[in-house]
Amino acid sequence: MQQLRDLPRLPNYGLSGSFGASAADRIALQTAVSRVTGHLARGRVLHFPVLFPCSPEAAHEVLVTKAKSFEKAPGFRVLLHTLAGQGLFTSEGSLWRRQRKLMSPLFQPAPIHHYAECMRLVAIRAANAMTPGTTLDLAHETMRIAMSVVGKALFDVDTFDEADALGGALTTCLRWVDRNLASPAVALHVLMLDLTEAAAERTTGRAKSLAQRLHERAAAPFLLPGARDPELLAAARLLDERMQAMIDERRASDLSRNDLMTRLLTALDADTGEHMSDRQVRDEAITLFVAGHETTATALAWSFYLLARDPAAMARAQAEADAFGDAPITSWQPERLAYLTRVFREAMRLYPPLVMFARRSLEDVEIAGTHVPARTITIVSAYAQHHRARTYPDPQRFDPDRWLPEREAERHKSAYLPFGAGPRVCIGIHFAMMEGPIVLATLLRRHRFEVDPRRTIDPDDFATLRPKGGVPAVVRARV
Ligand code: HEM
Repeated sequence: MQQLRDLPRLPNYGLSGSFGASAADRIALQTAVSRVTGHLARGRVLHFPVLFPCSPEAAHEVLVTKAKSFEKAPGFRVLLHTLAGQGLFTSEGSLWRRQRKLMSPLFQPAPIHHYAECMRLVAIRAANAMTPGTTLDLAHETMRIAMSVVGKALFDVDTFDEADALGGALTTCLRWVDRNLASPAVALHVLMLDLTEAAAERTTGRAKSLAQRLHERAAAPFLLPGARDPELLAAARLLDERMQAMIDERRASDLSRNDLMTRLLTALDADTGEHMSDRQVRDEAITLFVAGHETTATALAWSFYLLARDPAAMARAQAEADAFGDAPITSWQPERLAYLTRVFREAMRLYPPLVMFARRSLEDVEIAGTHVPARTITIVSAYAQHHRARTYPDPQRFDPDRWLPEREAERHKSAYLPFGAGPRVCIGIHFAMMEGPIVLATLLRRHRFEVDPRRTIDPDDFATLRPKGGVPAVVRARV
């Protein structure tokens, strides 16, 4: 059987190997992955080999058919520990399985439709606040909109943006995560987690309990730069206090509200007859807030940018929005938003908000005919899948009609991964796929956004694949 060392080697970007590289280098790396003609390639982090599944078939094996042989790579867990603790995005094993089962019913299309109206109202409020003739940054606007939507859906709060104390605290924590994303200290911290775990397994008596204590302490990212920064710690404290206050308030009012936080508090584990602990509700609520706004905001910002540069696509998008007349734009009739849905999907193909997903093999496993030893870091790149010329001819071209059902049917399921795939697939797909087209239609019905056609905006790969320098646009009134 083929071994990792037999695989084609990807070019090195940055000093420490495939990671620790600049954002531009990371995009260059993903582009190199998209050009590999075989199923797999290898790179490295420091001196450890990293596996890159390059074909949709190989990505499918890692994420779906052999998902049991992989866990999420621990780097994100360390980075998100202060903010999101053991929420669904970062948890593993039996805790993840229990939580996913408990939360999945809340994210099915029927309960999620309830939030369409809140998406529409937030978008209308944003449209009302835009003054024709002025220039604004569409990336900033979509961030405010997506933050308000998820804030309203989760916590039933109306004015939820960076000015709000909770929004400010979350932003402080997210900026810290952003700053540390490419830090080699993350790899060092993970190494320490592994070493203390191995020591706890192999020793006995006092040495064992010392190793266990160290391992538990290492769950908090104290090795990372700025982890003890007073501003970060104050923000984390404020988040804890505000979350607990919201939980107490809901319990005091007999859990009668209709927001997602109340639904988390009332969700009942059928096997044990138990509810989530307050701490777990806090971790899940913050996870949903974080996972649910920047991703959607980024996809919306790119959608506006791509439309503004393509007059024919813009005309079709506006016609779809205008066809609602004065009727409210909601997603109860998704077929009426079919073109904008294709626009949103194509924007996420070109600029997948989460560029790649890192896994680590839990055991020896065979992927696309290659032996992958236990503990191998494996990077599935949505960006690379979405830019493969074999799957998407002329991959740089914005073409929403790639998502006509008959064209989509020709492609492998794992050739399109904006939401991941398999058991860890995004739980918020229906939420995001409803919010995107509703917000696009609501704003496009009211305004035209002029983007300088001479200026190409590059992607900036951080927590999400943001438009570098934002999307400056002049607002023109349509009605
Ligand atoms: C356009 C918007 C969105 C994109 C592109 C997106 C993308 C993703 C991706 C790629 C994953 C899987 C990561 C992996 O496998 O390592 C994921 C997981 C997740 N997403 Fe989303 N997401 C979006 C919106 C949302 C929304 C609106 C919510 C909630 C309100 C949400 C909540 C989550 C959660 C909780 C997980 C972890 C699921 C698990 O591991 O069981 N996402 N998302």
